[in-house]
Amino acid sequence: MPDGLRKESAPVRLLDLHPPRGDFRAEVLQGLTDSPKMISPKYFYDERGSHLFDKITRLPEYYPTRTELAIMDSRMTEIASLVGPDACIIEFGSGSGLKTRRLIEGLDSAVAYVPVEISREHLLMSAQVLADQFPGLEVLPVCADFTQAFELPTPARQAARNLVYFPGSTIGNFTDPEALELLEVMHAEAGPSGALLIGVDLRKDRQLLEKAYNDDAGVTAEFNLNLLRRINRELGAEFELEDFEHRAVWDPREGRIEMRLKCLTEQSVDVSGTRIPFAAGEDIVTEYSRKYEPAEFAALARAAGFLPVRMWTDEASLFSMHYLERD
Ligand code: AVI
Repeated sequence: MPDGLRKESAPVRLLDLHPPRGDFRAEVLQGLTDSPKMISPKYFYDERGSHLFDKITRLPEYYPTRTELAIMDSRMTEIASLVGPDACIIEFGSGSGLKTRRLIEGLDSAVAYVPVEISREHLLMSAQVLADQFPGLEVLPVCADFTQAFELPTPARQAARNLVYFPGSTIGNFTDPEALELLEVMHAEAGPSGALLIGVDLRKDRQLLEKAYNDDAGVTAEFNLNLLRRINRELGAEFELEDFEHRAVWDPREGRIEMRLKCLTEQSVDVSGTRIPFAAGEDIVTEYSRKYEPAEFAALARAAGFLPVRMWTDEASLFSMHYLERD
């Protein structure tokens, strides 16, 4: 189409709440002197890490993304009738991907789309992509740390209710007490007649779970090791990547996959001027990915003040979507 005829959507209006940037250096040094050593999974997502995660979502072994999308697709009419018309979608995180698009298209005349995330650049980019795709939809990005209560923008058209949307089973990357706190923030942001639509990965056979985090192409291993690459680059550390090995193990007692980086030889590594000792075989814990029984998740959501209304799974009960309302 000639440029002169292209219908440009208006630039999105950002509500910038200036979230404090986490102190990467201080957090990494603290985590590496703890026992066991730990680094937060939130640091996976630099440019290369985000690209690798994107690749993970398309791997044959990684069932969550395609299964969640299939549930959304097959249940969209039901979801739309539960949510009702004129909802304001508040996504915790920002998605310009298929799942978000399907939800916007599937709901009955959504009033606005409010993505909330800490990375300003990523937020603005994906918000603009969506605004371009849905010229009639008000897109109101909020730059904030969604683990803490935040102010919401007011859409031009009044919403019948807020729908908090949190796909991808990202809730599983939080410990149980953190997940409860996050659900409480969602409850507050949903407001009096609000609702929550959330994707939750389910407990299942150990082999299937471990395969999803130990793919044959080695993409998840690259994703995990990229954390050390990032620390080397941004904090001037001297990790030798060949000395560390990706591990992902199912812990049935805790109900979670634990991702670790195992140090193969005894050594000490310079991290930003501090020497960190490693024993041979010592692990750095890099991520928990909690898998829930449906009733277990419903109990957690109830504790945060939600009333479970509907839950959907796929035929093989790999993944679940929960629709809950404020009680
Ligand atoms: C983002 N999150 C839900 C993913 C998960 O499955 O826990 C992150 C991931 N880590 C390794 N593979 C995918």
